[in-house]
Amino acid sequence: MTPHVEVFADRPQLITRALELTLVEIKRAIAERGRCTIALAGGNTPKPLYEQLATQNLPWQNIHIFWGDERYVPISDPQSNAGMAANAWLNQVAIPPENIHPMPTQPKDPQEAAQIYDRQLQAFFGTGAAEFPCFDIVLLGLGPDGHTASLFPHTEALQVCDRNVTVGSKDGQPRITLTLPVLNQARCILFLITGANKQEALTQIFAQQADAAQFPARLIKPVNGQLSWLLDAAAGEVLQDYV
Ligand code: 6PG
Repeated sequence: MTPHVEVFADRPQLITRALELTLVEIKRAIAERGRCTIALAGGNTPKPLYEQLATQNLPWQNIHIFWGDERYVPISDPQSNAGMAANAWLNQVAIPPENIHPMPTQPKDPQEAAQIYDRQLQAFFGTGAAEFPCFDIVLLGLGPDGHTASLFPHTEALQVCDRNVTVGSKDGQPRITLTLPVLNQARCILFLITGANKQEALTQIFAQQADAAQFPARLIKPVNGQLSWLLDAAAGEVLQDYV
């Protein structure tokens, strides 16, 4: 299937489009199923999108916020993805606290935290061990090394396909991450990518042949959903053939 790629002159235009697409999917999910489930990306790129979402008049009681991955730090830590989204968005809107589902980072053992979140997802989505939760929206970023969520090159997390949540590792630091089967189960996956430092990874991800273990974002292939790549010109320069 030809990937859906859109390249924008700069990050503000990318964020405007990302907001537009996100709002369409939020409204579609609520119209069709009475609620929207969205798994957020961390890092820097999505922050202005979260700030824009905070200005929207939405039925917050029907919107449930999860994370695609989390650094293994308290929410008060500047590195926290949940903390970033709370400050940029969730603390500014009347979303019920019970609709916000951060990945646990308190247990001493990150494996325990992954199991806790896995059980929370199974309970929320009503999925058993043999079925993966289907998020309405998954937001993803891309690292210069080709990682997405906390699925880093040549890590064990890439092989985990029997669970919803696992422990990732970046330079020996633990992360909690949704697994590939869960990410690929989503109805709508939006990559938000900025910066020339992503060009090499993008070239490898879109190449006919490349080592997916080296560039894990190659493994994002939605089972039934729609995958869209939104890039600024600095990153998207190498994907002009796909636009
Ligand atoms: C994280 C993210 C990670 C991020 C990429 C891109 O926790 O860091 O989930 O996968 O999306 O590293 O980050 P930037 O948007 O800052 O380039």
